[in-house]
Amino acid sequence: MTPMTHHFLSLADLPGVQLGLVLAKAAELKKGPRMPAPSGFPIAGPLHGRRIALVFFNPSLRTRLSMEFAAHMLGAQAVALSPGADSWKLETRRGVVMDGDAQEHLVDAIRVIAEMSDAVAVRTFAGLRDVEEDRAEPILRAVAAESKVPVINMESAFDHPLQALADLLTLREELGRDLTGVPVTLTWAPHPKALPMAVPAAFLRGASRMGMDVRVAAPPGFELPAALLDEARAAMPQGGRIRTFENQADALRGSRAVYAKAWGSPLFYADAEAGLAARKRHSDWTTTEQKLALGDRAIFLHCLPVRRNVVVTDEVLDGPRCRVYQEAGNRLHTAAAVLLHLLGERK
Ligand code: CP
Repeated sequence: MTPMTHHFLSLADLPGVQLGLVLAKAAELKKGPRMPAPSGFPIAGPLHGRRIALVFFNPSLRTRLSMEFAAHMLGAQAVALSPGADSWKLETRRGVVMDGDAQEHLVDAIRVIAEMSDAVAVRTFAGLRDVEEDRAEPILRAVAAESKVPVINMESAFDHPLQALADLLTLREELGRDLTGVPVTLTWAPHPKALPMAVPAAFLRGASRMGMDVRVAAPPGFELPAALLDEARAAMPQGGRIRTFENQADALRGSRAVYAKAWGSPLFYADAEAGLAARKRHSDWTTTEQKLALGDRAIFLHCLPVRRNVVVTDEVLDGPRCRVYQEAGNRLHTAAAVLLHLLGERK
């Protein structure tokens, strides 16, 4: 019988104390001496000689940099592929007659990558047709089912656990290691595009695992799905809570951190024009200095990339309460901690 492969698809794959251990490892790696710059591959390190394939169906700056640098720092080699751009276009649907423009099927590509690699990291995409279908993560699950080596989620239809780890590390650095009961607001933000819910879902999952006092603010019609809120509540330890607000100011009042993020409403998945009009009706949800000041010395977080003066103003991003660059930098240390967790010596 084939043994179960240990994947990192969601924070739920770090149950119990494992989440805290990975965050502690990331903090330790951040404090530790910078690895000597190597002149070539491979370098000495705990993952010496390991090979990691990074498959990007969508563009990336932070995830690609952090995963490549983290692999290199640990002595592993990472190779990034972008299907349809620098490698074959992949068909993701099962059972179709492949007489279109996709040259290779996802399952064949993953089986081949797994033959050559010790781990495969993948960034998939949301269909934005059916929120329940996106929550079921059909592409990510297909990759995990076909791979005999660990799969790392580099953002999927409904999750971004690597981002959530960096968010949590930043919150711990700024607000203390024990985040139980600490008020934090996740606020919807305006955006010209209907974005997926991967980042807000991941942040909600992470903040609730920490037992924070989570306030989710969104205008009517843009609420996060009830099933996601229920899932987050079920994983929440004692001392935490999740509340939803339609009034942004009510949510922000007293918050120690404000996480702004745009997401699209499933009500408008079938009608892009109506969706855009609905988002425009809430253009006053941009995070400003005045709104941040409603918090209790609140810091500002965002996963990046961000649309300046749409999601958040220049003053906030360039101001003293902004922690988004520290948060992005933490992607490196949390990525390294995940690679060690999945591929380290004890594995
Ligand atoms: N936050 C984040 O995942 O950034 P990229 O899309 O640039 O990787």
